[in-house]
Amino acid sequence: MSPMRRLSYPSLNLVLLGCLLAVQIVFAQLSDSYYATTCPNVLPTIQAAVRAAVANESRMGASLLRLHFHDCFGGCDASILLDDTANFTGEKTAGPNANSVRGFDVIDTIKSQVESICPGIVSCADIVAVAARDSVVALGGPSWVVPLGRKDSTTANLTAANTDLPAPSLNLAALITAFANKGFTANEMVALSGGHTIGQARCTTFRARLYNENSIDASFAASLKATCPSSGGDNNLTSLDVTTPTTFDNVYFANLLNQKGLLHSDQQLFSGGSADSQVRSYSNNATAFAVDFANAMVKMGNLSPLAGTSSQVRTNCRKVN
Ligand code: HEM
Ligand SMILES: *[C@@H]1O[C@H](CO)[C@@H](O)[C@H](O)[C@H]1NC(C)=O
Ligand SMILES: *[C@@H]1O[C@H](CO)[C@@H](O)[C@H](O)[C@H]1NC(C)=O
Ligand SMILES: *[C@@H]1O[C@H](CO)[C@@H](O)[C@H](O)[C@H]1NC(C)=O
Ligand SMILES: *[C@@H]1O[C@H](CO)[C@@H](O)[C@H](O)[C@H]1NC(C)=O
Ligand SMILES: *[C@@H]1O[C@H](CO)[C@@H](O)[C@H](O)[C@H]1NC(C)=O
Repeated sequence: MSPMRRLSYPSLNLVLLGCLLAVQIVFAQLSDSYYATTCPNVLPTIQAAVRAAVANESRMGASLLRLHFHDCFGGCDASILLDDTANFTGEKTAGPNANSVRGFDVIDTIKSQVESICPGIVSCADIVAVAARDSVVALGGPSWVVPLGRKDSTTANLTAANTDLPAPSLNLAALITAFANKGFTANEMVALSGGHTIGQARCTTFRARLYNENSIDASFAASLKATCPSSGGDNNLTSLDVTTPTTFDNVYFANLLNQKGLLHSDQQLFSGGSADSQVRSYSNNATAFAVDFANAMVKMGNLSPLAGTSSQVRTNCRKVN
């Protein structure tokens, strides 16, 4: 912006500043050592709890990763954890979350353990971010340092959860746009989609692809039809990565090369378009995927972290203090 232009609009700047102050939206500056003195054992405590949860049920690692993604697309502020009440509507009933997002009980367990060592210090949003990283590591994936210091929201936005989270029916261009709206490049979108190397999806999310598309391996489709009939069985589950469903690896991308993406949105990444070469590269180079995924996760964890007086460290992750 030129100095001339800057000088032309002082009053508009003041109005904008006034609006920001009125609703007190302040973004946190995250730090790798945020709890170093206030809760030095927080990281090992979360890691042990995540390991136990994943050892009990490997899918939980996938569920905790997705919980962080779905929280962060509305700002990494634990708004997704808030329960509905008679006078409050949270995000749990949003289309992409309802009957789908899970891991709330594990977060509650971790939160109570963390509260017992450092009461009132560690936010639910930070616990979700660390649990996502520890989940990926527990299933054999890359590690990364999680910057910390997010605060928890006192509000939630159901509309935003419904409009901003990408649907499995999206084509490549729409996937790129959905992630660009949150500041990600197309390459980062492809890397993050590699989260589908673990976890499961309901029949209702891939039925249209299964019965209407040609870009699906015939024997893969035949086996899926046993769990996902053309009608009924909506909640029947199938692994997103048919080959190595409980290992965080690059095989998701090799599946795409073989027309074995489960969701329409998965196969769109390898469909003759601009993402093909990156999918091929990740399928050949596990390190390239691991490095890009870890970097993109740090970036995702930085989406609008809260600070200031309109935010708090919740005592119970399910409700505002
Ligand atoms: C690119 C756009 C994306 C779309 C359209 C999408 C869509 C979906 C859908 C439809 C499911 C199945 C939900 C159900 O049946 O209940 C799912 C599961 C999952 N997603 Fe995504 N997703 C996307 C990106 C991501 C990202 C960026 C991550 C994490 C980095 C992620 C991680 C997961 C995981 C781990 C599961 C399995 C969860 C479980 O088993 O509990 N997804 N996704
Ligand atoms: C272990 O996983 C099962 C689902 O497989 C779940 O019902 C149970 O609550 C879990 N137990 C613990 C202690 O997390
Ligand atoms: C909202 O409902 C909760 C109980 O769910 C109650 O404790 C609280 O006082 C109510 N707040 C208002 C403003 O009505
Ligand atoms: C909720 O999200 C929608 C869609 O992004 C946005 O238009 C609206 O302003 C948000 N509401 C609040 C109270 O922030
Ligand atoms: C759900 O899948 C199971 C196999 O995993 C299958 O036996 C069952 O018939 C399916 N449900 C429906 C309604 O098709
Ligand atoms: C794999 O990717 C890594 C990280 O981008 C890169 O350093 C390495 O040279 C690649 N290996 C091959 C064989 O291309």
